[in-house]
Amino acid sequence: MGPALDLALHGVARTSLVPLCARAQAAQLFPSTHFADPAAERIVERLGLDAPAMISDPMSILGFIARCKIFDRLVAEFVERHPDGGVLDLGSGLSTGFERQARTPAWWIGVDLPSAVALHADLATPSDHRQFVPGSVAEAGWLTSIDLPDGPVLIIAEGLLPYLPRAAIATLVRELADRVCDRPAEFVYDAFSFLMVGTARYHPAIGPLARADPSIEFVSGVRTRKDYVWGDTRWRLVDLEDVMEQLPPPVAAWSTVVETIFGVPVYAIAHLRLDGSPDSG
Ligand SMILES: C[S@@+](CC[C@H](N)C(=O)[O-])C[C@H]1O[C@@H](n2cnc3c(N)ncnc32)[C@H](O)[C@@H]1O
Repeated sequence: MGPALDLALHGVARTSLVPLCARAQAAQLFPSTHFADPAAERIVERLGLDAPAMISDPMSILGFIARCKIFDRLVAEFVERHPDGGVLDLGSGLSTGFERQARTPAWWIGVDLPSAVALHADLATPSDHRQFVPGSVAEAGWLTSIDLPDGPVLIIAEGLLPYLPRAAIATLVRELADRVCDRPAEFVYDAFSFLMVGTARYHPAIGPLARADPSIEFVSGVRTRKDYVWGDTRWRLVDLEDVMEQLPPPVAAWSTVVETIFGVPVYAIAHLRLDGSPDSG
């Protein structure tokens, strides 16, 4: 046990504790998923968190596991294609995705609000391949504070976009494209359908935090498949993976019905590639 850490996570930064606690319980609760996250287990222990008190809804934990497995696979495939490539992890929170990769990417930059980044930097095992940058990706121009190494880049945003206003996402997506259009670039993120906007307080996992702090809200969601590029057609949607489809039959079936009616999945992971970037074909 090291020195006590200040758990000064407030507002939306506090939501990072929920997926962390889900991942930390995964191996014990759902061994059949073959998902384990020892780094998350260590952080939970180090922070003295009561993981089941933070999240206990089985379907939500399975949802976080399904989401992580998709992100992990897409990162691993990117690193396989681009051994010199790096990951720009937006809203990195207390993510342990870096630790879960069998093959370490050339570089990994985690960006989050100052309180989350400070805590994560204190907790993470130092690595020459990883750095943390404080900042709000909702503020135009934030990218100028990032010293982006050369080479292919995979931008990931796991559990972030639902909390950002639509206009901020459009600016973010445009600024990212402007910055990385000279290189192979991909963007992987999860998004809700518009049906989930305004429902954070009812969410089985995020609900308790949102009810205690109304600043925590799902403020954006997609209405059509076109929305997945947020108005910037330099990005091309190459794949959409339905997270709910990975869940047990009643939830998966409900999600399919909702998608059939409304045209977009309730909750999916979008994989975009920048058109015109060197390997966009
Ligand atoms: C649900 S957590 C997900 C954390 C992490 N990606 C994971 O999957 O474990 C959402 C994260 O987005 C971050 N976030 C929210 N708004 C942000 C902003 N404007 N700029 C940077 N990070 C932000 C929060 O601080 C929080 O760490």
